[in-house]
Formats: sequence, structure tokens, C-alpha cells
Amino acid sequence: MQLHKSDIKYFKVIITKKICLLFLAVVMISLASCSETTTTEKTSLKEVFEDHFLIGAALNSDQILEKDSVANSIIKTHFNTITAENAFKWERIHPEPNVYNFELPDKIIAYGEKNNMINIGHVIIWHSQTPDWVYKDSNGKFLSREALLERIKEHIFTVVGRYKGKIKGWDVVNEAVEEDGSLRQSEWMKIIGEDYILKAFEFAHEADPDAELYYNDFSIENELKRNGAIKLVKDLKAKGAKVDGVGLQGHYKMDWPTAGQVDSTIKAFADLGVKVLITELDIDVLPYDFGNYTADINYKLEDRAELNPFKEGLPDSMQQALADRYSSLFKVFLNNSGSISRVTFWGVTDRESWLNYWPIMGRSNYPLLFDRNGKPKKAFDAVLRAVKR
Ligand code: XIL
Repeated sequence: MQLHKSDIKYFKVIITKKICLLFLAVVMISLASCSETTTTEKTSLKEVFEDHFLIGAALNSDQILEKDSVANSIIKTHFNTITAENAFKWERIHPEPNVYNFELPDKIIAYGEKNNMINIGHVIIWHSQTPDWVYKDSNGKFLSREALLERIKEHIFTVVGRYKGKIKGWDVVNEAVEEDGSLRQSEWMKIIGEDYILKAFEFAHEADPDAELYYNDFSIENELKRNGAIKLVKDLKAKGAKVDGVGLQGHYKMDWPTAGQVDSTIKAFADLGVKVLITELDIDVLPYDFGNYTADINYKLEDRAELNPFKEGLPDSMQQALADRYSSLFKVFLNNSGSISRVTFWGVTDRESWLNYWPIMGRSNYPLLFDRNGKPKKAFDAVLRAVKR
């Protein structure tokens, strides 16, 4: 059969079109399978969140000393920033006048350096876990404003100075605001006055000019308290203090705060021009005093059997509810990832979480992403899915 010139041209066009379509299909398929592999392969939190924010955990002494092999492998796999749960608190690092315990703090710094993790310093000035002697002279009399300021300065220069360049950021002042937005009447406040906060930031900045400095608190998702914290940060900045970030502790309940509250809180602080950090994330699944959202470690609740309902394990429905709660929180974090620089969990596995001991000793709580044996929970999968979406 003789083919006409125009027929040949026609076939050429058809064939070229087909080749183009085929090529396009191959590209699309390979792109899809490529994104499929990246989304399904990554199961490490730090990798999955790498374009969004740092992801970390607080470590207890055994974990710092690498005595807890289960936690150790979770930490190395999933986290790129670590915070000592207690080792830097005044009562631990500076338990008596002129006595400093640097052993454990030095260990966590070395652990972080060895594993390429960013070290965070928690905490300098706080009304809790600070020994009584700090506020008093050797006769047990309360110090003058000047003497207490001198003591703070010496403490900050010694501790922050020692870890200069090794700790990326410090919780300089913790929990200075009350639920009604006023400043807490702590010993610091009573003896020095409200500028103890400003002074602490100034001393810390002097001790390590490159360190990030944060104000850290719980329940600042509640409007009154949030307004108090906003005022505090604004005042500090107006007085020239270097405040780099505000830490939302993130000791959350199943029903508080709402995702909307967390979202508006993050935006409110970001609007002040500071970084937002989620510094102590966990979700308490146990019953609590309705209306009381405190994470003040001095608060105690009377022990009653009905307040410890999951002694034998967390039912599936609750595991799912916890997963959904984590998922909705991480969606908020991800939507605000331009303002959030770090999310740190307060612990590694449910086994050693402080919520098993507070506000009642010896309950079984399930606030984290890994269960008592270090196995990822439904909540872990939900967090991974939140970012993949
Ligand atoms: C908690 C620790 O997890 C416990 O081990 C310790 O006994 C008490 O303090 N807000 C904070 C943290 O800023 O330092 C607290 O950590 C939890 C509440």
C-alpha cells in the first residue's frame, strides 16, 4: 500500500503525541512513587520534621548516663534536641552555697555533642526546685534586694558561663505569671521586686551573649494568663532585654486547651517578634480537677481510686483518642511552623513520665508517643501522619 505524504505526516504527529504522553506518564508515575517512598520510608521524628522545627525530649539521669538502653535508642533515632529534666535546676546544680554539681550537666552536654543534638538549658530562675538557703543569709534571715541580685548574678555567671557556646538556649525565667495575669508573688518577687526578671535576662545575656533566652510558662493558652505573659514580654523588650522566645510548656489535657487556643496563643506571641517553642509537651489522659489547668509542681491532688482508672493499661479507644488529640495539636504546630522553632516532649516513654508521680504519686499515665516498653503508640503514627499530610 502506498502511503501519501500527508498520511506519513499524520502518523508522525500521532506517534510523537503518543511518545510525549508515554513520557509524561512515566514521569508522573516515577514522581508519585518517589514521593510515596519518601513519605512511607521516613519514620524518624527528627527527619520527618526537619523542614519544620527541631524535635526533642527531656532526659532524666538514667537516660543522660545511657543506662536506659530502650530510651537511648529512641532518643538517638528521633530527637535532635535535648533538655535535662532536672539536672540544671538550682537545687541540683547548686544545692548549697559554693557547691556546684556539674557532673550530670556536663554529661548531657557531652551526650548532645556526641550525637549532634542541640542542648537546651532548663532552668535558671523559678519559684520551684530552688533551695531555701538561696533567699537567706547564713543566719537564716531573708537577704536584701541587692544581696539576692548578687546571688542570682553569681549563679548565672557560673552556670551559663560554664556552658557558653554549648547551650543554644536557656529558659531564663520559668512560671512568673499567675492564672489571673499578675506576677507571681514568689520569693524573687517579694525580695527583689518585679525587675528580678529583667535582671535575670540581663545577667544571662552578659554571661553568654550568643545564647537564646526564653520566658517559659504553662497555661498561657488561657486568655488572662496569656495577656499577663504578653505584657511581661513587651515590658522586657521595651526595657532592652534580649528575649528570643517564649516557651509554651505544653502540659496539656485531653480537653484543654482547644486547638484554637493553642493556635491563637502561638500567633499572639509570634506577633511580638519572638520565637515560639513548645518546651515540655505531654498529654495527661487521667482525670483531673476540672477547671484547674496548672502544671505547678507544688500542686497536690488527694489520691482516690477513680483518679487512677488505667492501672492495667490504656484501652484502645483511649489510645485512639490520644492519637487524635496529638494529631490535632501537631496540625496546629505545622500550620504555624514558621513561628515555632522547637517542639520538645517532656520525657521519652510513658514509663518514666513525671505524670505518673504528679499531682498524685504512683498513678499510671500515658502522656507520650512511646509506651512503657518503648514501642511507638498510635499517637506516634498520628504525629507522623500529620506531617506527611
Ligand atoms: C518536673 C520533672 O519532670 C520532675 O522529675 C520533677 O520532680 C519536678 O519537675 N514544669 C517545669 C518542669 O518547668 O521543670 C517540671 O519538671 C514540670 C513542670
